[in-house]
Amino acid sequence: MASFAGAFASSHGPLLVREWDSIPEDEKLRLEKAFRELGRRVTAARPDVLVAVSPDHWANFSLDNYPAVCIGVGETSEGPPEPWMKAYPHRQIAAHPDFALHLLNESLKAGFEPSMSHRLKLDHGTCIPLWRMELAKMPAIVPMLVNSIEPPMPSLARCLEWGKLLRRAIESFPGSLRVAILATGGLSHSIGEKTMGAIHEDFDRETIRLFGASEPELVGYLEKQLPSRGNGSEEVRNWLVAHGAAGGRGFELVDYLPVPAVIVGCGFASWR
Ligand SMILES: [Fe+2]
Repeated sequence: MASFAGAFASSHGPLLVREWDSIPEDEKLRLEKAFRELGRRVTAARPDVLVAVSPDHWANFSLDNYPAVCIGVGETSEGPPEPWMKAYPHRQIAAHPDFALHLLNESLKAGFEPSMSHRLKLDHGTCIPLWRMELAKMPAIVPMLVNSIEPPMPSLARCLEWGKLLRRAIESFPGSLRVAILATGGLSHSIGEKTMGAIHEDFDRETIRLFGASEPELVGYLEKQLPSRGNGSEEVRNWLVAHGAAGGRGFELVDYLPVPAVIVGCGFASWR
């Protein structure tokens, strides 16, 4: 049987690439250190498969059709389509169709109804953390795109349930795989709205604290706060998927720092 190898979370944001050189040196060093430490933890977990839980920043979907959740079941995914991600070294990213199809089937059996795609592009949401973590060996990447940017979105409670389902799917997969989760997005940021650029450090720190508290406390706080903490904060949904998969336990902060130059409250964490 497959086993759960761990869960990991990282912020992302276009300016972490586009404005990298204008980040103050001390913050850049901390970001580099945090990404590398996360990469070290991923490597230590020895995953064969990494389920990348991220939003789709309109690389695959549009307002014509934006699924709540989409699982990539293809042999490969395409690298990021954003022109400023051109230097990302992987243009084709190997996936794991057997595990992805198992996850899809287990989801449907359990009354969850994700969409599926045989051909996804993995945008900066997935690829910036993969890039900056500097993994020596890239695991197979199974994309799980969760709508965490375009309202209406899946409920926070449902995201936790998705995590628990993901864990059951891992543990019922008939093969000796090690499967980990990489959740990307958040913490507070605001893109293309009146509060663009705002970072809510108080919200970020309390959210981090509550990952160590009970699920109802965490979800209750986020339900109240998310509407006023910038649209990017909604991406914390992906962290909830990871938290659910880890059974709501073992959250460990790698680092948190608000970075005005990239307009993101940058958080990095793992569960074990
Ligand atoms: Fe994002």
